Amino acid sequence: MESGVVAGKQAAARAAVEDHLKDNQVVGVGSGSTIVYAVEKIASRVKAENLKIICVPTSFQARQLILENGLVISDLEQHPQLDLVIDGADEVDSSLNLIKGGGGCLTQEKIVASCGKKFIIIADYRKDSVNFGDNYAEGIPIEVIPLAYHPIQLKIKEIYGGDIKLRVAKRKAGPVVTDNGNFILDWKFDPSLCIGNQWPTINQTIVAMPGVVDTGLFIDMAERVYFGLADGSVRIREKPH
Ligand code: A5P
Repeated sequence: MESGVVAGKQAAARAAVEDHLKDNQVVGVGSGSTIVYAVEKIASRVKAENLKIICVPTSFQARQLILENGLVISDLEQHPQLDLVIDGADEVDSSLNLIKGGGGCLTQEKIVASCGKKFIIIADYRKDSVNFGDNYAEGIPIEVIPLAYHPIQLKIKEIYGGDIKLRVAKRKAGPVVTDNGNFILDWKFDPSLCIGNQWPTINQTIVAMPGVVDTGLFIDMAERVYFGLADGSVRIREKPH
């Protein structure tokens, strides 16, 4: 990865943990490459300041990260309410809506985020867009029950157009299988869908299709986004109150 991108991810992750982590919190831990730096920072603050922090993972990867960094792990059964959730994003639009799920963990990420009092996003500068699709070409991930993947492809194409493909694994023949045993569709949508405030309705329409587990559209969920820049500085964008 380019050094400016790494510097951006690190800066965003460290600044968010510095600003939001407090003693006695239960923290939801997102997935992806940026969250790695946040977990390292959480672990270093826990050690240096003797903080009591309990972490709830959003994926197998997050679980491993929490354990490798010697942090206390829990789950939503024991801690259904989280003080703070920190996660990455694939793209952030000017209203702080997000595309997530590049790593295929969108469903658990959305569940965990929905249990948080505060949902904070950490991302490098490349994720900062006015409209979805400005800076991210992979489309919107949609987790689906395997049996339903093709009918869902056809329905989304019929209603909204675009190109919608089953995500296939790079080093395995066949589809990517999520932590939940499902498939992922990647929907390259028509950019005209960004005109007007259509994403909430589009999201609801897709989620209502039988066989859809959830989408990577996180509408009106993030409270604050930390964009890390290549020079190691951070730009913060907040939801208007
Ligand atoms: C995982 O499913 C994703 O939602 C990630 O949170 C998102 O792709 C951000 O990943 P990076 O931190 O690697 O950019």
